[in-house]
Amino acid sequence: MAISSRKLSIVGAGAVGTSAAQWAVSKNAADEIVLIDVIEGIPQGKALDLSQCAPLCGFTGKVIGTNDYADTRDSDVVIITAGLARKPGMSRDDLLAKNVEIIKSVTENVCSASPDSVIIVVTNPIDAMVYTVFKVSGFPKNRVVGMAGVLDSARYRTFLAQAIGVAPKDVTALVMGIHGDNMLPLTRLASVAGVPVEKLLSKEELDAIVKRTQQGGGEIVKHLKTGSAFSTPGLAAMEMAQSILEDKKRVLPCAAYLEGEFGIDGVFLGVPVILGKNGVEKILEFPLTEQEQDALRLSVEAVNRQVAATGL
Ligand code: 2OP
Repeated sequence: MAISSRKLSIVGAGAVGTSAAQWAVSKNAADEIVLIDVIEGIPQGKALDLSQCAPLCGFTGKVIGTNDYADTRDSDVVIITAGLARKPGMSRDDLLAKNVEIIKSVTENVCSASPDSVIIVVTNPIDAMVYTVFKVSGFPKNRVVGMAGVLDSARYRTFLAQAIGVAPKDVTALVMGIHGDNMLPLTRLASVAGVPVEKLLSKEELDAIVKRTQQGGGEIVKHLKTGSAFSTPGLAAMEMAQSILEDKKRVLPCAAYLEGEFGIDGVFLGVPVILGKNGVEKILEFPLTEQEQDALRLSVEAVNRQVAATGL
């Protein structure tokens, strides 16, 4: 059931922000979509272009491009994509110092315009940027969430489907932990329509897929040379936004603030959550093997190093 007058704002009219807006239009996911950026003309031009998709895709709302946060007022969901993207040879951590300053000022503006919104953070390094938004906004933990698990799980599912030779949609798989090389694609729980992938692929094949997933973002950066992935990151953010805007209660892997879940406290980390109109409505906790727990601990250590570097 759609909630009336859903307003979605997307901060940053770069490749990921534009992709998220395009998916929102094509899915008719909001009644008002606001694309905001500091560069004059870019959000306006892109919004105008996107609004002209309406007759072709059936979008019934409006798209606004702006440089003024007043236009984002009372958004239900705000997706933050603003910041620099990776170039070849850069890790997500290299972006930290630059993006933390951008994110602090974006957060202040978002909070004063939309104090009741749910904020989805996409800017890298995501796990530290979502923590920054949480601290600067003072929002309750359920209203700040990071995008990464949906993207990483989509990559994992794609690679598994290609190796097995099945429809990607029928592959269910979960990636937990940091959005970085220490992420944890769970092989034990991955299945094709309920059939464990461990019965369909060899350990060597699965190890190679896990490694490719962990380095999935970097593989694309190497090809593109001047930027990073944007189509699936935009769609992943939209899947999350839509579940919140329409109170769908989808279970998606997202960076959520942990307070004891999985034995972890005080960090944002990718875990399966229920996303509804209140944002992160529940973290779905389940027992991990010792090996999985060790892997998750590496994620926590990496996130803690990033968070320490934010100076917050
Ligand atoms: C990626 O993994 C942009 O970090 C993002 O492609």
